[in-house]
Amino acid sequence: MFKPTLMNGVQAGAAQLVHFFNGDFKISNKEGINNLVTEADHAAEKAIIEVIKKDFPEHSILSEEIGEIKTSSEYKWIIDPIDGTVNFANGIPLCCVSIGLEKDGKMIMGAVYNPLMNELFFAEKAMGATLNNKKITVSNKTEVAKSCLVTGFPYIYLDEPNGPLEIFEKFIRKGIAVRRLGSAAIDLCWVAAGRFDGFYEHSLKAWDSAAGSLIVKEAGGKITDFKGDVYSIYQTKILATNGKIHEEMIRELNFS
Ligand code: IPD
Ligand code: CA
Ligand code: CA
Repeated sequence: MFKPTLMNGVQAGAAQLVHFFNGDFKISNKEGINNLVTEADHAAEKAIIEVIKKDFPEHSILSEEIGEIKTSSEYKWIIDPIDGTVNFANGIPLCCVSIGLEKDGKMIMGAVYNPLMNELFFAEKAMGATLNNKKITVSNKTEVAKSCLVTGFPYIYLDEPNGPLEIFEKFIRKGIAVRRLGSAAIDLCWVAAGRFDGFYEHSLKAWDSAAGSLIVKEAGGKITDFKGDVYSIYQTKILATNGKIHEEMIRELNFS
C-alpha cells in the first residue's frame, strides 16, 4: 500500500538530484563552515513532499530542510532529500535520497536511492532487504581486525571522550580499514549489502538513519547505540554491523 508512494518519492527526489548534479546551483551554509544546503536539496525535498502529500495528506512528515509537519496520524515519513550534500556539491557521485516510513514510532519501510550509481535499496519490516530488487544480506566477517569499517564525522568537531577522531585514530593505529564516504544513508546500505562489516557515527539525525537502519536490520544486521542498547533514530550515536563483530565493536567504541 505504501511502497508505490515511497518509490515515487525517491524517484521524484532523485530526478532533482540528477538534474542539478555537476550543474550550476546555489549553495548556502547552515551551522558550521561546511554544512551546506543547495538549491537541489530544496528542489528534491519539495518534489518528494508533493508525492507524499498527494497520496497521504493526513500523514506526518519530518524532513531535514523544512522540519516537521505534525498531524495526529500514526504514520510519519522521514526524509533526507539529499544525503551526502558535500559530495553532491563537489560532483562526487556518493549521494542519495533517503525516505523512511514510521508507524507508531517504528520504522516499517524505507528506501535509499543513489541514481548516480543506479542503486536502489529497499526494505519492508519482516520482508528482507533488496538492492535493485535482489535480496541482500550482511557480510560474514567475525573479527574487527579483518573488517572493513566505515564512519562519518560531524560538521562541527565533537570534543568528547572517545570522540570521532579518537576512535578513528585507534582503528587506524591498529591498521584496521576504515572508510569515510560522506553519506550515512549509503554507509548503512553498504553494510546491509555486505560491502562494509560495520558502520559507526557519533552524531546523526533521524533523517540520516531512518531508512538505512531498517535496511540493515532487514539484511540480517544489528543496530544499537555505542553501549549496545536499543537504537532509536532520534538519538545521535549509531553502531550498525553484520552482527558478528557487534560485541567486539562495542568494546572498541568504549575504550576509555
Ligand atoms: C551528512 C552525511 C554524512 C554524515 C553527517 C550527515 P547531509 O548528511 O550523512 O555522511 O557524516 O553527519 O549530516 O548533511 O549530507 O544530509
Ligand atoms: Ca543527511
Ligand atoms: Ca541532507
